[in-house]
Amino acid sequence: MGQEQSPGRPELTVVPNGAGEGQALRDETEPLAGTVLLLSGPNLSLLGQRQPEIYGHLTLDDHVATATRAAAQHGLSLEHVRSEYEGALVEAVHGARRRVAAIVVNAGALTHYSWALHDALAAFEGPVVELHLSHPGRREPWRRLSVVTPVATGVIAGFGGDGYRLAMDAVASLLRARRA
Ligand code: DQA
Repeated sequence: MGQEQSPGRPELTVVPNGAGEGQALRDETEPLAGTVLLLSGPNLSLLGQRQPEIYGHLTLDDHVATATRAAAQHGLSLEHVRSEYEGALVEAVHGARRRVAAIVVNAGALTHYSWALHDALAAFEGPVVELHLSHPGRREPWRRLSVVTPVATGVIAGFGGDGYRLAMDAVASLLRARRA
């Protein structure tokens, strides 16, 4: 954010929305409790087969396993909702309100135009981490707009499958900062 990216360099931004979020932590190892909702949007079910030169060879199940392990290391449990349908993802966000601690969302192409998902996420009270395997800002111009970003606490993009672990670490940091 606000910094020039050198070509080929992946992007990791954690942008605090409110006071206290994103701050350095006193104890990174202190266990947390609660559930993180991971949302997977359209076409992520095809990971492993779909444009592997962009999205890699791992499947969505592989990424969910990575996220589950990383969450568990922080004492968090992971709930995963995958859908090709915007409304199902919106409903999942509604169901997360006042129930889950944080949301990690890779909305696939809905990222770029789903104001319904934007509005649902805006009504969620916890941290929201936007996640992408690729770095949309370095791809086609239409991918440069994310309607999720304005309601995300931070964005992790361009790290491939590592992003799923990084997203859980980011969520844990944000939750610890909120608790401090
Ligand atoms: C994606 C990037 C989106 O632009 C695209 O539509 C996807 C995947 C990613 O993880 O890199 O489906 O969210």
